Amino acid sequence: MERTLVLVKPDGVQRNLIGKVISRFEHAGLKIVALKMLKPSKELAAKNYPDSNEWYTKVGERSIGTFKSMGIDVKKKFGTDEPVQIGKTIKGWLVRFLSSGNVVAMVLEGNNAAAHVRRLVGETDPLKASTGSIRGDFSIDDVILGNTLNRPIVNVVHASGNSQEAVGEIKIWFTEKEMLSYVVDTDKVYYKEW
Ligand code: CMP
Repeated sequence: MERTLVLVKPDGVQRNLIGKVISRFEHAGLKIVALKMLKPSKELAAKNYPDSNEWYTKVGERSIGTFKSMGIDVKKKFGTDEPVQIGKTIKGWLVRFLSSGNVVAMVLEGNNAAAHVRRLVGETDPLKASTGSIRGDFSIDDVILGNTLNRPIVNVVHASGNSQEAVGEIKIWFTEKEMLSYVVDTDKVYYKEW
């Protein structure tokens, strides 16, 4: 059985989407084993996103790719075309954004929880997220709009990238004691022989 972390970010909370987001996971059969609302400090928000060149490069390259595809000069926006530098700027925006208001943090449990949650959440850029996914259905933001306004993409939720990342991220937001073990009827559907 796998666990993964989901945050309803400040935009999702402000837009009264908490219930709608949670219901997507519940309907798929994932079990909520921990849940809380809090206003993260800057330090806590910073911990949620890796301080690694790999992560900065991934995020920076997303902006570079989108700016290029639209024929917009990325250097004019960021003063550099170095992915790591751009990624670092975006992390600064993310920390400011995530600590700007209340978020709902939860741990979801189930078969292949991390992968299923990512599927339900959809692509990072809502413009590319499939209809039917949380970001595809609940956001009209995109990379260019966010970057133009010096803020991260507002895409309603954060979800751990994979089960390994989930282990680290869950520890940032929850103690072992805050996670509850219980049985629901869904368990009887998925986790038994028929
Ligand atoms: P999240 O799933 O929380 O993980 C990292 C976040 O950074 C992502 O959702 C977006 O909110 C934001 N993000 C990622 N790439 C970019 C980008 N190129 N420009 C702006 N924000 C980004």
